[in-house]
Amino acid sequence: MRTAVITAAGQVEIRKLPVPEIGATEVLVRVAACGLCTMEGNLYAGRMPVYPTAAGHEVAGRVERVGDQVAELEDAPAVGDLVTVDLLTRCGACRPCRGGQSAVCSSPQGGMREDGAITMGAGLAEYVVAPAAQVWPVGTVDPALAAMGEPLACVVHSLRRGALRAGDRVTVIGAGYMGHLHLALARHHGARSVTVVELDPGRRSAIEAAAPDAAIGPDLLGTVPRADVVFVTIASKEAIATALAAVADGGRIVLFGGSPDGPPAELPGYEVHRRQLTVTGSYSQEPEDWRAAAELLRGGTLTRYLEPLVTARYPLDDVDQALARTAGTPVYRVVVTP
Ligand SMILES: NC(=O)c1ccc[n+]([C@@H]2O[C@H](COP(=O)([O-])OP(=O)(O)OC[C@H]3O[C@@H](n4cnc5c(N)ncnc54)[C@H](O)[C@@H]3O)[C@@H](O)[C@H]2O)c1
Ligand SMILES: [Zn+2]
Ligand SMILES: [Zn+2]
Repeated sequence: MRTAVITAAGQVEIRKLPVPEIGATEVLVRVAACGLCTMEGNLYAGRMPVYPTAAGHEVAGRVERVGDQVAELEDAPAVGDLVTVDLLTRCGACRPCRGGQSAVCSSPQGGMREDGAITMGAGLAEYVVAPAAQVWPVGTVDPALAAMGEPLACVVHSLRRGALRAGDRVTVIGAGYMGHLHLALARHHGARSVTVVELDPGRRSAIEAAAPDAAIGPDLLGTVPRADVVFVTIASKEAIATALAAVADGGRIVLFGGSPDGPPAELPGYEVHRRQLTVTGSYSQEPEDWRAAAELLRGGTLTRYLEPLVTARYPLDDVDQALARTAGTPVYRVVVTP
């Protein structure tokens, strides 16, 4: 099979490897679409200099083979199914995994492939192998949308962390790809209103097509109702300050965006205490988030929100152009279709 490996900043090569074997509880998936996320963009641009790397963790495809022990289990993937694939490794044994919070599994992700590439998904390839428990059938949607299973699961997780309930007023800070997904899911879950706060006027008008109640700059926060839940989809001090101004007393703030080298924000202890705020983090996703994300994809409920987020599609042979495209604006998802 052909597989793309990022070997240095601005360098990617297509290698030939044998089609992988599967174990008794695994599934072989022929990749139909792989979305490029911030991580792939960072690897290619040299902002994350970890090479050689087999990247691509937002994968959808068709089941080609199913291990003996999982064939014909109810609701398990079957040969021919279109699936969205969870390529995370969760050890199941560490303290967070045992406590039901596998999103923060202590074991390192990835590993070394036979060709010496570090695997970070390895979905920019013709095939991937995953445990059957992590392969989710999605019915008949466009594979480019099915490849949004992973980011969608992250946002399902974020809504769960924010304990969003029908009737809540929601504010989303940032109108990037993740802001769009938060708006779509908040609507789906019956939010009373969704306000989007975004600095860039172009991005504000782009998100207006998805019909938020308001798309405003931070200067206009005083003109909209305060929110029961604020989702911060950026990693910045300013965005956290905006969240504190946007949230209602007794409300929740979810820090969804994050960066290890982002500037630390000060936590205003008295304000959190006196206004009885909840500030929480949301990182990655867990199996129950995938279950919900797969179902949302299958039902087509979110299709009208997701379709405009496919910015461009490239064949695997043009993966260099696809990776370069992630640096452009406006970009939501660039999809590689092997
Ligand atoms: N929690 C998770 O599981 C998870 C998963 C994937 C990505 N992320 C994180 O989500 C974040 C967003 O990803 P994205 O792809 O949407 O990024 P993006 O860069 O496309 O979007 C961010 C948007 O925020 C806007 N912005 C920046 N500062 C602002 C401010 N102070 N106020 C209002 N708007 C502001 C930008 O103009 C931009 O439109 C990243 O930090 C990423 O690391 C988290
Ligand atoms: Zn991703
Ligand atoms: Zn673990």
